[in-house]
Amino acid sequence: MSDLETIRKEATQAVASAQDIDALEKVRVAYLGKTGVITSQMKSLGTLPPEERKTFGASVNVVKDEITALIENTKQALETAALSARLAHEKIDITLPVRPEQKGSIHPITQVMEELTAIFGALGFTSEEGPDIEDDFHNFTALNIPANHPARQMHDTFYIKDEKGEGGNGNVLRTHTSPVQIRVMERFVKEKQQSPLRFIAMGRTYRCDSDMTHSPMFHQIEGLVIEEGVTMANLKGCLTEFVRAFFGRDDIPLRFRPSFFPFTEPSAEVDIGCSWENGELKIGAGKSWLEIGGCGMINPNVLKNVGLDSTKLQGFAFGMGIERMAMLKYGIPDLRPMYESDIRWLNHYNFGALDIPSLVKGVAG
Ligand code: PHE
Repeated sequence: MSDLETIRKEATQAVASAQDIDALEKVRVAYLGKTGVITSQMKSLGTLPPEERKTFGASVNVVKDEITALIENTKQALETAALSARLAHEKIDITLPVRPEQKGSIHPITQVMEELTAIFGALGFTSEEGPDIEDDFHNFTALNIPANHPARQMHDTFYIKDEKGEGGNGNVLRTHTSPVQIRVMERFVKEKQQSPLRFIAMGRTYRCDSDMTHSPMFHQIEGLVIEEGVTMANLKGCLTEFVRAFFGRDDIPLRFRPSFFPFTEPSAEVDIGCSWENGELKIGAGKSWLEIGGCGMINPNVLKNVGLDSTKLQGFAFGMGIERMAMLKYGIPDLRPMYESDIRWLNHYNFGALDIPSLVKGVAG
């Protein structure tokens, strides 16, 4: 066997036994590198007599091309195998189930506030807001509750102290949402808007009072309508429509019980019909009544306090406790867990984020 034939065979074996690109590269260098076997064969050409040089040169070239092609093909095969191995190794199993997500949910108070917005929105009411820290004028005086009026005592007010811990500047945590009436009416006058004015205002209210059924912080909804010619009958119709849409039944009677609020005249407390069956409360026509809020025709003094002409305009206002509405509608027996952030309670009474109130259906258009 000629030298060249031996070289060809050995090279072929060396390529075949190369397990990876690095090993193959070593084989390439050993045969085709500067000092490689084939290269030295080429170099030896010069030492041969001219007649042998041509045929030997051609033979070396044939072997060189063969080995070069073999190495190239093997390199490609090894690269493909390496890529496949890497892809198999890095594969992500997308069939695995996703990690369970913590679901956020809507607190019953928020849910009821959304329902109230939807129902009153359908009745033509816009939504307004006011600050939690109020001045004496908006929380009391403008609402026809002057200093030393006994009604101030009824409110168990939280007074805000100044930096020295003293009397402060008369600011309070609002004891009801009625100061928003004043703020919106002031804007109504300032911007010379035309009646009707029809809005609700919801939010936190504060009273220094705490037991089974009272929390120092609670939520109220305020409603106000100013329109020429509105009467107590419109007030009653509006609240009847609301109560029926909110509780989703048409047979709920309303009772207006004469009462007193300094900012309304006449004033009434609103009761809805209910019954007790085996200790369970049912809203709807029955033998009993439940109070849900206060209301009345706006006292002309309040209209005068904000600069409205009480001889031309009149209106009505109402106020209700949002926690109470939530408890009655969703059968929540105790007020206090509403603010305890107990996950078990929240899971029991909460609402899904997509649980959009559909109560608007019940409201006449
Ligand atoms: N602001 C009253 C309260 O908190 C409720 C009310 C509002 C009564 C509007 C009449 C009209 O008790």
